[in-house]
Amino acid sequence: MAAKILVIHGPNLNLLGKREPDIYGNITIDEINKKLKALAKKKNVTLDVFQSNHEGEIVDKIGKAKNKYKSLLINPAAYTHTSVAIRDAIMATGIPTIEVHLSNIYSREDFRHTSLVASVAKGQISGFGIDSYIYGLEAAIKLAKT
Ligand code: DQA
Repeated sequence: MAAKILVIHGPNLNLLGKREPDIYGNITIDEINKKLKALAKKKNVTLDVFQSNHEGEIVDKIGKAKNKYKSLLINPAAYTHTSVAIRDAIMATGIPTIEVHLSNIYSREDFRHTSLVASVAKGQISGFGIDSYIYGLEAAIKLAKT
């Protein structure tokens, strides 16, 4: 059976395309998901995609991921910088996790320079727009297949 990977988009990413296009570009979340699904198909893995604006829903989703998914690709969005709960959920599942960001969080406001998720992720990709997700999924697929 094909390895399963969970993709999580955090808060406000449902607004992509309309939201600060100078920072995040014109691409919509549906277009991102379509590209991710195409890559997954090519690499023979299965993706489940989830977006939520609610911290607890994201925590619940990660909490139920154990034994179901081989790796996790997450853009925690604003929760990157605030959520001990999401960090702890990733730690608790033990699923290898790749953190991605469309923008380069280190070239923006100071409060974005800290990621609470980074220390429990296998790695972080930040600043390449949609390609952050593509590179991130490539990494998540490798982790899922090892
Ligand atoms: C983001 C960066 C975060 O700082 C911000 O809160 C987001 C999106 C990114 O993809 O660049 O919502 O995660």
